[in-house]
Amino acid sequence: RLDPRLEAFEARIARGEKIEPGDWMPDEYRRQLIRMISQHAHSEYVGMLPEGEWITRAPSLRRKMILMAKVQDEAGHGQYLYHAAETLGATREDMMDALLSGRAKYSSIFNYPSLTWADVGMIGWLVDGAAIKNQTMLAGCSYGPYSRAMVRICSEETFHHKQGKEMILTYAAGTPAQRRMAQDALNRWWWPSLMMLGPHDQDSPNTAVLSRWGIKLKSNDEVRQEFINEHVPELLEAGLSIPDPDLRFDEASGNWIHGPINWDEFWAVVKGNGPMNRARLEARRFAHEDGAWVREALAAYGARSQAQAAD
Ligand code: ACO
Repeated sequence: RLDPRLEAFEARIARGEKIEPGDWMPDEYRRQLIRMISQHAHSEYVGMLPEGEWITRAPSLRRKMILMAKVQDEAGHGQYLYHAAETLGATREDMMDALLSGRAKYSSIFNYPSLTWADVGMIGWLVDGAAIKNQTMLAGCSYGPYSRAMVRICSEETFHHKQGKEMILTYAAGTPAQRRMAQDALNRWWWPSLMMLGPHDQDSPNTAVLSRWGIKLKSNDEVRQEFINEHVPELLEAGLSIPDPDLRFDEASGNWIHGPINWDEFWAVVKGNGPMNRARLEARRFAHEDGAWVREALAAYGARSQAQAAD
């Protein structure tokens, strides 16, 4: 017999109700959410680095202001998500420790280098485009705090996506050097963007339980297909070529079918051996240590305010 609490919990999800922090939930639901939300928070936090490096080298004041706003948004997304994980009992200290010690996973995509200015545009168009596909789905998830964080994050991501697309469309229609730079960025970011949406469904151990409890409403392959179908025609329209010789349109399904993905590369990156894994963690550790005085000052201020309130 099913635990009556589990039955009631599943009935609530079936009715489309949100599960809120104080509500009863299975331990595995809590564990899965902490895993996923903390990995997501780390991704936003590490995700500031590939583009942040370009702030001082932006080609105009307008581009610099857009990029600063975008990188600042990613920090904000990390904050909402760490808070969402805290509502489930995770602590900020443990999550930070897991990230900085290299135990935690974060998105593979941020372990690739941003080599030219066009990468900033391509990250906006492709990486934020893929993130929006995944996160619009998560905005409908069964856990209230995560679902609500996703609504705001997706609206900000839409701005990130648009600025990236606008930038690449400009360069793709620009001088020969600009066109080459845009194509080179696409060549390097295309496959990692497909990988970012996770392994094929048959190799995705978490999907079954996440779907059962309304956390994932679409599988990794479904989201990847949506992303490809939306982006391929637009990239081709821009006059760029997609670095996949097997890519073809399938009339029957209406889908663009991609060639084989290099999953060995994906797992190497996930396990810490991608081109930039070490540099990304070093940069985060440096920032953490460099910011110690801010945490200490906040703690001292908090203690003093509490003491004054008690007087
Ligand atoms: N990078 C790093 N690790 C990954 C990636 C990736 N792109 N894709 C999957 N993995 C990991 C999973 O976290 C899981 O590891 P774990 O079980 O040790 O925790 C393992 O590979 C197996 O994958 P799945 O069973 O498919 O994992 P899951 O069902 O959680 O699906 C997905 C992966 C789609 C990334 C999901 O976790 C998700 O939607 N997360 C929230 C969104 C997110 O984190 N986005 C980050 C990038 S967006 C941005 O920051 C701009």
